[in-house]
Amino acid sequence: MAQDIDTRAATLRKTTEAHGQEHVFRFWDELDSAGREQLITQLEALDWERLSKWITTYVLATPELDIPGDLKPAEYYPAIPETPHQEQLYSEAMSLGRHLLREGRVAGFTVAGGQGTRLGFNGPKGTYPISPVKDKTLFQLFAEGVLRTCEKYDVIIPWYIMTSPLNDQATRDFFVANDYFGLCPENVSFFSQGVLPAVDTQGKLLLATKDSLALSPDGHGGSLLALRQSGALDEMRERGIDTISYWQVDNPLVHMFDPLFLGLHDELGSQMSCRALIKTGPYEKLGNFCDVDGRVEIIEYSDMPEELAEAQDDDGRLTFRAGSPAIHVLNREFVESLTESGRLNLPVHRAHKKVAHVDDDGRRVKPEEPNAVKFEMFIFDALPMAQNVLILEAVREEQFGPVKNKSGVDSAESCRTLLVERAARWLDEAGIPVPRKKNGEPDCVVELSPRRFLDPEDVAAAAADLTSPERGAREYFD
Ligand code: UTP
Repeated sequence: MAQDIDTRAATLRKTTEAHGQEHVFRFWDELDSAGREQLITQLEALDWERLSKWITTYVLATPELDIPGDLKPAEYYPAIPETPHQEQLYSEAMSLGRHLLREGRVAGFTVAGGQGTRLGFNGPKGTYPISPVKDKTLFQLFAEGVLRTCEKYDVIIPWYIMTSPLNDQATRDFFVANDYFGLCPENVSFFSQGVLPAVDTQGKLLLATKDSLALSPDGHGGSLLALRQSGALDEMRERGIDTISYWQVDNPLVHMFDPLFLGLHDELGSQMSCRALIKTGPYEKLGNFCDVDGRVEIIEYSDMPEELAEAQDDDGRLTFRAGSPAIHVLNREFVESLTESGRLNLPVHRAHKKVAHVDDDGRRVKPEEPNAVKFEMFIFDALPMAQNVLILEAVREEQFGPVKNKSGVDSAESCRTLLVERAARWLDEAGIPVPRKKNGEPDCVVELSPRRFLDPEDVAAAAADLTSPERGAREYFD
């Protein structure tokens, strides 16, 4: 029989006292029954032992940087095959990837649970308008890409979208309001990731309101457990899906279902695969692919010792030049095995952030400076547990244009420029010349609809119907 709220509260008071967190009951007497239920439910969901360990290690102490001494760059496959053996491998992999798609063995998976604080957009990031002529949102571009892939391979590709409790409803409402952009609702699934509490710099849990902890999404690493807990993995198994194509909601240039990448992943028996970019410099903000005792690990750019970040080969290239744009393929069975116990044993990372909260007197505080530590898990921390990790270089301007910041590098503006340049390149290659400025930039704004033009082959196939844009035009091709 379910315990009454007072009994549950009494148990939790003991737990919180044992962990030095009894202050979370400070406003208990003022709370109505709904507020009490909410707070108790949140407290019951915490893994107190783990949380205390994190606080001791990451908040009360300065965590030691644990960089293995024998760090080597991880090996990666080049974007363009360099040997006859690779040529043959890539050609077989391409056929295999197309076969996997046609057989309905691949699902799409977008992580969209982040808070997008740097972009400062009011709403789920996926609802951000990004396309250069039509202002299509990130979600619409992906939805149209999924539709086109289904059409191309004559198959249903289910699409899983991970949200967070903070943006789940808004995301679902957005798809309903837009009729799922033409997708069948039963082939689009939303599920929410977990949350973790924020603590102040003394390691004390923060209350967002008198009846709620300050909770935030548990990082994209939380997606692995969320896939299991939501039932998505079971549904995939029932649908005959064994391969999960993973991308982030803020990169509209991603090739969502790249047959070469999918095929190589399968051919080489990889449990988790990664695209890699050649870094523009030693301190570009991309995680570094490293080899530690034969296992692939990503070391964050901020954690890389200077002498390693700057090290060069004999040919003058960075030794650690492969960086991660967070594009992956995962085996469904690998995710199942990682989450079998119902827990996810990934390390946590700490982030020093501004977190609004109520103070001891119940007053709302909106800090100007970082005041709290948030905990997050990262998906790439699953790599050392994966067998046969494949890393495949991607051509940067083809696949990477993240929308992170309001302006400048990795912003909406830089992403739109990259979308226009890629569309212009595909048109040029298909024999539809795009007017250019003296410096080579397109002298027009062009947008290709992913509903029809998923890749250069789609543009080439339609070339006879397309005409070159005028200088200075804003042209949409659909
Ligand atoms: P980022 O690490 O760039 O975070 O997420 P963010 O929340 O989008 O932006 P900032 O840092 O607050 O400005 C990379 C990808 O991982 C997803 C994001 O939605 C984005 O697609 N993500 C991140 C989650 O799904 N959940 C999380 O808890 C964190």
